[in-house]
Amino acid sequence: MNKKIIVFATANAHKVEEVRALLSAANPSLAEKYEILSLTDIGCKEDIPETSPSFEGNALQKAEYVKVHYNYDCFADDTGLEVRALGMEPGVRSARYAADEGHDHDARANMEKLLRNMKKATDRTAQFRTVIVLLMDSKKEVFEGVCKGSIIQTPSGKEGFGYDPVFVPDGESRTFAEMSIGEKNSISHRGKAVRQLVDYLIHKED
Ligand code: IMP
Repeated sequence: MNKKIIVFATANAHKVEEVRALLSAANPSLAEKYEILSLTDIGCKEDIPETSPSFEGNALQKAEYVKVHYNYDCFADDTGLEVRALGMEPGVRSARYAADEGHDHDARANMEKLLRNMKKATDRTAQFRTVIVLLMDSKKEVFEGVCKGSIIQTPSGKEGFGYDPVFVPDGESRTFAEMSIGEKNSISHRGKAVRQLVDYLIHKED
C-alpha cells in the first residue's frame, strides 16, 4: 500500500520522533498508512515566518507555507506559556521573551525574565498551550492541548527544555524538568494536542 505523506512543518527532529512514536503506539497500522516527513526531509531550509498574534495563526502560517511552496498535506504546531499574573504573557512570544534584553531564543534568559517579572506575584497560576493546524485534502483541522499548573520561585530539574524547570503541572509536586519524557508527554499540552491529531487520523475516512 502506498503511504500517504504528511509533512510536519518543523525542523525539530525530536518533535517528529515524538509524533511518529505516538502514531504507532496509538495504532500500528496507522504507521503503515501515513509517513510523517520533517522540513529537513523535504529539503525546506527556509526560516518560515511566524508573525501572527495567535498560536493558531502562527501554526496556520507554517502549514500554509509548506502547502503553497511544496504542495504537501501538512501540519504545524505553535506552543507558548500563558501566565495569569502577566496578563497571559509571554504567550506567542515565549521563545523570544528576553529578545528585548539581547537574548534571542535563550531559554535561561527567558526563565530569568519570567521570574523577575513575577517576583511580587501571589497568583502563580499558568498554563502551556499547544495548537496544531492540519491542512489535509483541502480541509483545515485545529487541535489544541492545554496543561494547567503553576510557576515556582526557583528553577528545578535538568530534563526537558524551555520553561520546564519552573513549571509544576497541577496535581504534581515535580516540575516538568524533573520528569522523564514519557511522564511529561502523558500529561503535557503537546501530548494532548498530538493525541487529538492521531485520533483524527485514525477515524478519518479515506
Ligand atoms: P514551540 O512553538 O514549540 O517552538 O515553542 C515556543 C517556545 O515555548 C519554546 O521556545 C519554549 O520557550 C516554550 N515551550 C514550548 N513548549 C514547551 C514545553 O513543553 N516546555 C517548556 N517550554 C516550552
